[in-house]
Amino acid sequence: MAETKTAKRRHLLRRFNRWLQSKLPERADPAQYNQLVRETYDGPAGWFTLITGYLTGHEPLAKRLIGPKGFDIRGCKRILDAGTGNGRYLRILQRRADPGALVVGCDLSLGMLRRAGKRLRHSRAFLVQADVNRLPYPDACFDAIVFGWVLEHLPQPLLGLRELARVLRPGGKLLLMTTEDNTLGAITSRVYHCRATSRAQLREWCRQAELLWHRELWWSRLHQVLRLGGIVVELRRIKAEAPDHD
Ligand SMILES: C[S@@+](CC[C@H](N)C(=O)[O-])C[C@H]1O[C@@H](n2cnc3c(N)ncnc32)[C@H](O)[C@@H]1O
Repeated sequence: MAETKTAKRRHLLRRFNRWLQSKLPERADPAQYNQLVRETYDGPAGWFTLITGYLTGHEPLAKRLIGPKGFDIRGCKRILDAGTGNGRYLRILQRRADPGALVVGCDLSLGMLRRAGKRLRHSRAFLVQADVNRLPYPDACFDAIVFGWVLEHLPQPLLGLRELARVLRPGGKLLLMTTEDNTLGAITSRVYHCRATSRAQLREWCRQAELLWHRELWWSRLHQVLRLGGIVVELRRIKAEAPDHD
């Protein structure tokens, strides 16, 4: 009886979260939606991301997440921060990368790239304006990719994931962070006109993009216990199977 009540409550909460979420990423015309995203991040919402990293704690905690015990980029020769925004993770990547490694950050919004440029004035990282759905790079050219809080802005997430898989070398690693479809995620989705995703849906997209779900990461032990901080997962590009020789 108690179990039925809990299941009912969970079901109602899921329905409420779904109702609360922005429907724009699914319903808007993809080109118009991309334009809206660019304008949103060119404007005050983009500036606000300089603060949100500290409000959520992600800014200081990212130093631990991207490191030897988390997403380890030692030995990677080419690293991409796809949808780099204000360069929050790019700054850490260029510090953690091996000497001589190429570190690139790309974004759709010129306003965000300018903000990243100011933060990374004396760094070795390159900044490029590019859409993650059509990256200007050849196949299999990156060893590691960070893709933080961008999937939620893609009109067709699977398309973006496939494009990232294309530029990632077989066996290469991808750190994906995205908004989860809980109540907090639904509110975020409303504010930023973006998507919130369930773990099951994300797993399915990753499977279809041939990205292996390697392991989940958490910002801290507290985040893990409370299941907060969105979905943070390390993926691996699936290696093609060697052909059978008779
Ligand atoms: C929430 S911010 C995240 C920025 C950064 N990854 C971080 O976590 O601090 C989302 C960023 O994704 C960028 N973006 C959205 N759609 C994109 C696309 N199709 N291609 C490239 N960048 C995109 C936005 O311009 C914005 O800078």
